[in-house]
Amino acid sequence: MDKLLFITDTHMTEAGRFIIGLDPAARLQAVLDAALAAHADVAALVILGDLTHNGTEAEYRRLKPLLDAVPIPVIPMLGNHDRRAAFQKVFPDAPQAEGFVQSMRDIGETRLITLDSLDGPPYPDDHHAGRLCDTRLRFLDKALATRAGRQAIVCIHHPPFDTGIIGMDMIKLAEGDAFLDLLARHGNLHLVCGHVHRTMSGSTRGVPWTILKSPCHQGVLDLTSPDAHLSTNEPGAYGLALLMGDGIVIHSEDVGLKGVRIFGGYDAE
Ligand SMILES: [Fe+2]
Repeated sequence: MDKLLFITDTHMTEAGRFIIGLDPAARLQAVLDAALAAHADVAALVILGDLTHNGTEAEYRRLKPLLDAVPIPVIPMLGNHDRRAAFQKVFPDAPQAEGFVQSMRDIGETRLITLDSLDGPPYPDDHHAGRLCDTRLRFLDKALATRAGRQAIVCIHHPPFDTGIIGMDMIKLAEGDAFLDLLARHGNLHLVCGHVHRTMSGSTRGVPWTILKSPCHQGVLDLTSPDAHLSTNEPGAYGLALLMGDGIVIHSEDVGLKGVRIFGGYDAE
């Protein structure tokens, strides 16, 4: 059985810069260490965007040695906090196609497709919604049409649907309808997203999906606030996909919790 590791929303900052008191580098390192110690046999690591917090070259340079040390293929993706030119300058060898940070590869009987939903350049001020232009939609269509019966995992930073978390729904994927229509038409796939910093699952128009949370700051289950920046310091986490012969199972594992490795029966009364 093949396995895939997922991490999303690493939000790397420059040294000495913290997010709600958390150091993204230390948090990412802890998650990488835990994930690779427990699952050394994963085929690849996908990072589902928002690699950096501000999209600066300095932030990508702080991220790079952490990813270079990972002993399996790493497939980075872009999110709304990223900037494509700065990323490409620091990560020139990352999987890319047609000028976008998008890729496809087969892992056994599963086709893995990673997409680039960054809107820009030009980058509108304080605009964080995602885009999939015709060029990127055509890439996806072709990747799904040529998979010779394989199941697919489609990865994109921005969810294409409403989650109930208002602030994030306001900055979802702009072309969500076209994207979901295309996925539903092809079928036999699972959609994996980031962006929301919470672990969620569901299905929309028949498309099954999972959203994973960050190694760093997490989102809040608040269905009333339009603030997209509500964050909490819950533990960091990674996702693990098991590529079964007849489907895909996705786990989410928190890292750094104390007292959860206690095995045994019921407490004595
Ligand atoms: Fe994010």
